[in-house]
Amino acid sequence: MFGSIFNSLESFLIMQNFTYYNPVRIVFGRNSIARLPDLIDAQKRILFLYGGGSIRKNGVYDQVRQALQGRALVEFAGIEPNPRYETLMRAVALAKTEKIDFLLAVGGGSVLDGSKFVAAAVRFAGKDPWDILNKQAPVRDALPLGTVLTLPATGSEMNGFAVISRDSSQEKLAFGSEKVYPRFSILDPAVTQSLPRDQVANGIVDTFVHVMEQYMTFPVNAPLQDRQAEAIWLTLIERAPAILKEPVDLDERAVYMWCATQALNGLIGCGVPQDWTTHQIGHELTAFYGIAHAPSLALVLPAVLRSQRDRKKEKLHQYGERVWGIRETGTDSLDAAIDHTRDFFESLGVPVRLKDYNITDRHFSAIVDRFSQRGSKLGEHGDISSEKVAEILQMIA
Ligand code: NZQ
Ligand code: ZN
Repeated sequence: MFGSIFNSLESFLIMQNFTYYNPVRIVFGRNSIARLPDLIDAQKRILFLYGGGSIRKNGVYDQVRQALQGRALVEFAGIEPNPRYETLMRAVALAKTEKIDFLLAVGGGSVLDGSKFVAAAVRFAGKDPWDILNKQAPVRDALPLGTVLTLPATGSEMNGFAVISRDSSQEKLAFGSEKVYPRFSILDPAVTQSLPRDQVANGIVDTFVHVMEQYMTFPVNAPLQDRQAEAIWLTLIERAPAILKEPVDLDERAVYMWCATQALNGLIGCGVPQDWTTHQIGHELTAFYGIAHAPSLALVLPAVLRSQRDRKKEKLHQYGERVWGIRETGTDSLDAAIDHTRDFFESLGVPVRLKDYNITDRHFSAIVDRFSQRGSKLGEHGDISSEKVAEILQMIA
């Protein structure tokens, strides 16, 4: 008995045990799409998956076709933002009939995530691939996958996660597996030139919040991870105006691209407690209201921090001091750190209030019911119940 009390006290003070594995080969820089032939075996039958057509307008499609001239290549277009299960199952059928043995995902997080699901679903031994998301059925095998990233934000290019939406049940669910780590990801900052300003602002917010979910808990002895996380925030805050500037400065886009990858490739999360409450609630706002991923986080994060302010006070204080230069201590300084965060999102032009979308609280009770049915206990202490979620939602109304 004393042992378990001692262990639980200790777990608040020392870095947690961890295994870090990340096999993704990153090919970074200008003209790197031309490297594709070296990265995919010549005999592979490739399924080239992409989204709604941005790559046809900005020349990325042509660069990929040119690089893979003479290769066996089948295309699947039309993976939508918040990739839909219904669409992806059509890609699964195509991959099977065409006897595909390599997937090439070219696009933003949605195309990459969708392709990860296709990779897992094609080789899924169970009856219904939806179980991978709904029941967390284990992914024992997957088609190999490579990516060309066109929107820095999600970190999907260097992690084993994917988030998939299903229209028929208004669900947005995640899965993770080592089997769907990309074999390689090509990161050419030049492809971001065609991004609308809002998508870049969203990418900065998503990156910022990924760092937050892995940092804003309670202190363990992990000074390196803390400072790696703070380095990503400080870089984003310092460079955001230059990243968003027109005409596009490709050197600044390179900075942005690498920040986004580093924020969710698992490194800063090694050995530290995490709290993905903002993402969990944000996914429900996307599922019920259609709010895009990063804007959903900009709405939810300040409310989560306010609601958990006292539980997170040590890290919130450290964040306020090191990232925003707040020297004072006490409750006001914690509120100031939260205000700075919200103001930063607003300064990028990302709305921080539900009414900015002309949306009411009509789906809140359905969202709360969902957390209640799942028996979710969110937060680093597992104590954010569905009642607490209801309070958080009221704070953003
Ligand atoms: O579909 P196309 O025509 O390509 O247009 C896309 C889309 O409309 C466009 N776009 C992408 N690259 C472009 C471009 N437009 C012009 N120039 C370019 N270079 O941008 C739009 C949004 O794309 P999308 O892929 O949906 O955005 P994002 O990268 O933000 O991905 C969001 C999805 O990723 C999930 C989110 O939940 C959401 O479903 N996430 C995945 C994570 C992961 N795998 O680890 C973690 C994240 O927290 C997140 O949950
Ligand atoms: Zn995210």
